[in-house]
Amino acid sequence: MPAILRRTCDTVQVRAYRSGVGAGKIDGVTGALFAVSDLHVSYAENRTVVDGLRPESPDDWLIVAGDVGEVFADVERTLRQLRDRFAQVVWVPGNHELWTHPADPVTLRGRARYDALVGMCRDLGVLTPEDDYPVWRGAGGPVTVAPLFLLYDYSFRAPGTTSKDESLRAAYAAGVVCTDEVLLHPDPHPDRESWCWERVAETERRLAAADPALPTVLVNHWPLVRQPTDVLWYPEFAQWCGTDRTADWHLRHRAAVAVYGHLHIPRTTHHDGVRFEEVSLGYPREWGRRGGEPRPMRRILGGAT
Ligand SMILES: [Fe+2]
Ligand SMILES: [Fe+2]
Repeated sequence: MPAILRRTCDTVQVRAYRSGVGAGKIDGVTGALFAVSDLHVSYAENRTVVDGLRPESPDDWLIVAGDVGEVFADVERTLRQLRDRFAQVVWVPGNHELWTHPADPVTLRGRARYDALVGMCRDLGVLTPEDDYPVWRGAGGPVTVAPLFLLYDYSFRAPGTTSKDESLRAAYAAGVVCTDEVLLHPDPHPDRESWCWERVAETERRLAAADPALPTVLVNHWPLVRQPTDVLWYPEFAQWCGTDRTADWHLRHRAAVAVYGHLHIPRTTHHDGVRFEEVSLGYPREWGRRGGEPRPMRRILGGAT
């Protein structure tokens, strides 16, 4: 990693969608919808945590909200492991999956890398933002589960700044620069914000077409609203954490719950009466400080069994 990157990002056709037949019996009011993110499996300690992730019932689904890891094969191995245990796995990309890391033999960049990740997930039967939004019909349902890939556009600006350039300059001056600046290539888009805006526009269209009778669970690696970034130790980091363009999506798109990760600050907050769940595991040095064995899998819908 370049020395300037004093702080990296540590704040931070499917096996057809199963329609109630056989394993995963999703038409009954059973099971629970769980979520986790930021598994960062390049760390051996985190791989041990992943080894311990188990459903409570054969009907449980697991949302994996990005940052499984940086190396393509690590992401595939982990999602396969989870796919083998849960009735359905739903994945969205984090910034780490989108890095073109020098240690990864897969050298794809930008959208080509994302497309390859989606193809890998389809081979595994893991749902992605490119699939039809599934409906969770288990306990707490029915709800539309919408996996989203929206990225960020530097609109969560550093304090006292009014443009992307100013905000980035403030971050470099503070030595708080996300590694994305070096490893997350926007190809073929001119920059990451253009990619973000394209994703936002396309996703808005798809969400508008979702069943208006159902509430939603909106899943995105980056928080849909800025408020969760207010507690960042380094406020300059917020510019890599989302976009103002989604500030009212939890209201406009009927969210029962919004799920995100990326900040490595696992917690539950409420915004405009909507529950937001940060479901990240984070790095061993982070969860180690909290003490005890990490239990990163968060129940999103469905009662205890
Ligand atoms: Fe992360
Ligand atoms: Fe992240």
